[in-house]
Amino acid sequence: TYVVTESCIKCKYTDCVDVCPVDCFHEGPNFLAIDPDECIDCTLCVAECPVEAIYAEDDVPDNQRHFIALNAELSKTWKTLTEKIDALPDADEWAKVTDKLDKLER
Ligand code: SF4
Ligand code: F3S
Repeated sequence: TYVVTESCIKCKYTDCVDVCPVDCFHEGPNFLAIDPDECIDCTLCVAECPVEAIYAEDDVPDNQRHFIALNAELSKTWKTLTEKIDALPDADEWAKVTDKLDKLER
């Protein structure tokens, strides 16, 4: 499966959503999560994310491994997002921040 990681928090550009052939992105207030049971490993979303938030599960950096379980958990309760929407306000500012897990809203 593929995994959305920290860079997405408070950015949520959603370019990834448009290319997903199986609509497995689920939307929270300021983050998207991939449902590991729906992702077919097509890889298309990786190149779309302007902040490089998406990794193959095996390639998730060591300091972001907790996002594997977070995607699995959050995607089960959040609604599916199937089309690109506007990024969050200040997304370009938050894109420069690397330590923002405490800003994740559920
Ligand atoms: Fe969707 Fe493909 Fe990305 Fe999985 S790898 S989330 S199937 S676009
Ligand atoms: Fe998030 Fe990148 Fe998609 S910022 S919403 S993973 S395009």
